[in-house]
This record gives sequence, C-alpha cells and structure tokens, in this order.
Amino acid sequence: MDPCGEDQLSQPSVHSSRTTLARRDHFPAAGGVAQRTQHEPRLPARPLSSNAGANDPRDHLSPHIEIAIFGNCRKDGKPMKSVHVLGLLGSLRERSRTELALTRCLAAAQREGAETSVFDLRKSPLPLCDGRDDPSLYPEAVHALRRQVEQADALVFASPEYIGSYSAAIKNVLDFLGPDHLRGKIAGVIGVAADHSASNTVYHLSTILLRCGCWVVPIHAQIPASEIIFEQPDSPSAQKMLTILDALGRDIVVTVRRHHSGKPTV
Ligand SMILES: Cc1cc2nc3c(=O)[nH]c(=O)nc-3n(C[C@H](O)[C@H](O)[C@H](O)COP(=O)(O)O)c2cc1C
Repeated sequence: MDPCGEDQLSQPSVHSSRTTLARRDHFPAAGGVAQRTQHEPRLPARPLSSNAGANDPRDHLSPHIEIAIFGNCRKDGKPMKSVHVLGLLGSLRERSRTELALTRCLAAAQREGAETSVFDLRKSPLPLCDGRDDPSLYPEAVHALRRQVEQADALVFASPEYIGSYSAAIKNVLDFLGPDHLRGKIAGVIGVAADHSASNTVYHLSTILLRCGCWVVPIHAQIPASEIIFEQPDSPSAQKMLTILDALGRDIVVTVRRHHSGKPTV
C-alpha cells in the first residue's frame, strides 16, 4: 500500500461535492500575503463544577467533534488557543501550481478556524545556507523565516517535484531550519508534479521532516499531472486531488487541537 499514492483517495472528507465552482472558489488568492482569520469562542464557557473532569464527555471526543458540540471553549472555560498554520512555498515560479495547491490546503485550514500565512520565497528570497559560524550575519529574511516557523503551530511544506524529488528551494529552507527550529512541529506535505506522480517529493520531504523531529500528519497530498488538475478543476481526478488538499488542511488543524488538548497527537 503506497501511503503517498492513490490510497489517499480513500481518505474521509466532507468535501466530496462535484458541484461546479467558479475558478476563484477553487483557488482563493494567497499571493504570499499573510491571511488571517480569528476563531472566536462560539459558546459560553461551561462553568467548572466540583466534579469537572470526572466523566467529562470532552475527554472522549475527537477535537473537531468536541469543537462542533461545545464551541471553541476548553473544559476549564478558557477559549481554545488559536491555531496558526504557516505554509512554506517551495516554488519560485510565477503562476505556480504548487502555490495553488498550498492555497487550497490553507483555505481548508481557515475553514477549520485556523489563521494562515505563507512564507513566499519569491518575496523573501533566501541566500543559500552556507553553515557560517555566525548565523546572525544572515540577512533578515533568514531570521524572519525562523521567527515565523517558531510562532506557527503547524507547517505545510509545499514543493514542486524537481528531477524526482523536492525542489532545491525547499531544501534550502530545511537547511536553515533543521531540528533546532522544526522539532515538535506538526507538519503536512504537498508535492506537485507534471508527470504521473509526486510521491518521491512527498516521501523524501516527509522523511527529512521526521528526522528533524516533526510530527508529519498521515494525509500526504501528492498532486500528479498538475496541469490537468489545475486547468480542469471540475474533472473527476482534479476533484479527488482537491478533496485531499482539503482533508490535509483540516487534519492539520485537528491535529494541532488534539496536541493542545493533551490528547495523543497521532
Ligand atoms: C527543474 C525541473 C525539474 C522537474 N522535474 C520533474 C520531475 O522529475 N517529475 C515531474 O513530474 N515533473 C517535473 N518537473 C515539472 C514540475 O514538477 C511541474 O511543472 C510542477 O507543476 C511545477 O510546479 P510549479 O508550478 O509550482 O512551479 C520539473 C520542473 C522543473 C523546472
């Protein structure tokens, strides 16, 4: 069973509609600019009673069902921490299809209540990582990258497939981050290829992220034949891929909430 291949198509999703949507609905603009939504508490906090905690139904619910029923409040009455998902775009190309895939995924994360932003290497070019002795001498973009990663609850790495693996641009990002900045982060992976599979990109990226101490969510979005997917978004194969990107965005947020609530991450 290939976790990066067609098996993903069996991932559960509530977004299975084949309804024809306008193109802008499929791909809301990200443009590398931070997009933020704030998830406010929807229900008043349940007061703490003397036996709060004992037989609390919230302890047995998955985070997204808990939120659907109880709103964005923890059982101690405080609002749940907001979730911030940072996308890392590994393509430098204008009109990038990887950007379209990342945008779609982050839009799903926003619908789940997360704030999202994108680190766009076209707008914040990084030098090549050279392992210099004094990292403070790197330009501001490097420090901005590290700051944004540190502040994010979860990361989505999106890369085009280049010669059978991820792009050099995303590798350079990984070199600047490494385990020091990635350990303990929840991460999702998107690979986008022209040919029949981006499995290598997804697999290679996941391997490195795991090695750096990330929790990589199991929905790996590998987008093959990207031209067809994004030129014909109403085709059945495009719809399947878009469904996977939605599932990834949603799952990342659910995983962060599970992590925040102290439930097992996976
Ligand atoms: C240097 C280079 C290498 C590529 N290698 C592959 C490859 O090995 N397999 C593949 O399916 N597509 C390959 N492609 C095509 C890209 O993966 C594909 O066009 C992808 O959609 C580009 O993403 P972008 O639009 O975000 O730049 C390559 C493209 C470039 C520029």
